[in-house]
Amino acid sequence: MPEIVLPEVELNIYTPKDPVEATIAENYICSAEGSPNFVRHITFDITGTDLVDRVKVGQAVGILPPGEADNGRPHKLRLYSVSSPNEGEGGKRHLISTTVKRVVEEIDGSLYTGVCSNYMCDLKVGDKVRMTGPSGKRFLLPENKNDFNYLFFATGTGIAPFRGMIMELMKSGYNGNVTLIFGCPYRTDLLYKDFFEKMEEENSNFQYLKYISREDRREDGTKNYLHNAIKDQKSTLDPYLKSDNTLIYICGLKGMESSIYHHLALQGYPEYLVLKGDLLEKSPEDWEWEEIKKLIKPSPRIFEEVY
Ligand code: FAD
Ligand code: A2P
Repeated sequence: MPEIVLPEVELNIYTPKDPVEATIAENYICSAEGSPNFVRHITFDITGTDLVDRVKVGQAVGILPPGEADNGRPHKLRLYSVSSPNEGEGGKRHLISTTVKRVVEEIDGSLYTGVCSNYMCDLKVGDKVRMTGPSGKRFLLPENKNDFNYLFFATGTGIAPFRGMIMELMKSGYNGNVTLIFGCPYRTDLLYKDFFEKMEEENSNFQYLKYISREDRREDGTKNYLHNAIKDQKSTLDPYLKSDNTLIYICGLKGMESSIYHHLALQGYPEYLVLKGDLLEKSPEDWEWEEIKKLIKPSPRIFEEVY
């Protein structure tokens, strides 16, 4: 197994007490027409700030929405993953992007709209935002990225870092294999679908698998969640899941990681996991959900950002 050398990254160049102003350069919808979800690709112009060339894909930036929370204090910052590659959105060093889903929920019979996501989704080109960061020092591509294969699991806006990472990897000189497994509720929520399909057409070492939870049911009637790919695609994934230079990255909804761990174990890949307690004595078929959540930790070959 090659050593995983993570790059040294900068952290908190700007803090909530001392944020920087960034300008909206783009803000367009990237969920398809008819989707019940509203997800937007938002690009910030960071010209003249100390963030230029110092925010890496896999890191997040903080946004401070204006106004006050119910407790009378200023709203807290929210984090958003960078979805542009290290060279900047469209190769422009002064542009970084993210992918934001409007949080809209019915709570106790009333409509609740998330503070920061809706603030950001409403912003117009030229508007200013208060930004902090960057944050995150582990969910990164290794410096020796060409030494590895990658299996990327994303749900919803968890796709953001993988868009940038895949751009990084496919730039040139990379001969490994990358599989992106994306889970979303409906086909209208396949974020950046055209981009990934084109990538797949143009690169024989890139595979794009879609898991549509609500439209495509499993034979047993359950939702078609993305961890099923480990079983469904065993014939194609097995050779590189078995090879010792494969890394797994997981980003999106908190909770998705536990099902992925379980399916890795069920399909015979315990080397990606650190098992504790009773799990060591039992076969994965007999593991209880509570045990899976408590007694499995990811090995250093798994990177995750779940929220
Ligand atoms: P909030 O107003 O904070 O509400 C969030 C939830 O809290 C609501 O859905 C509701 O259930 C509950 N809630 C809060 N206040 C009330 C209230 N008064 N009454 C009832 N319920 C309430 N998101 C993205 O879209 N894209 C990303 O790339 C992304 N990356 C992230 C990276 C990291 C490392 C982390 C930690 C998070 C990331 N997020 C991302 C999530 C993001 O930070 C925000 O949490 C998200 O946008 C919701 O923020 P909000 O202010 O819109 O919602
Ligand atoms: P569902 O909502 O049908 O239960 P989005 O952020 O756009 O809503 O997408 C998140 C996707 O992740 C949805 O398809 C959602 O399915 C799915 N999902 C929800 N919980 C899990 C989980 N524990 N493991 C894997 N996928 C999940």
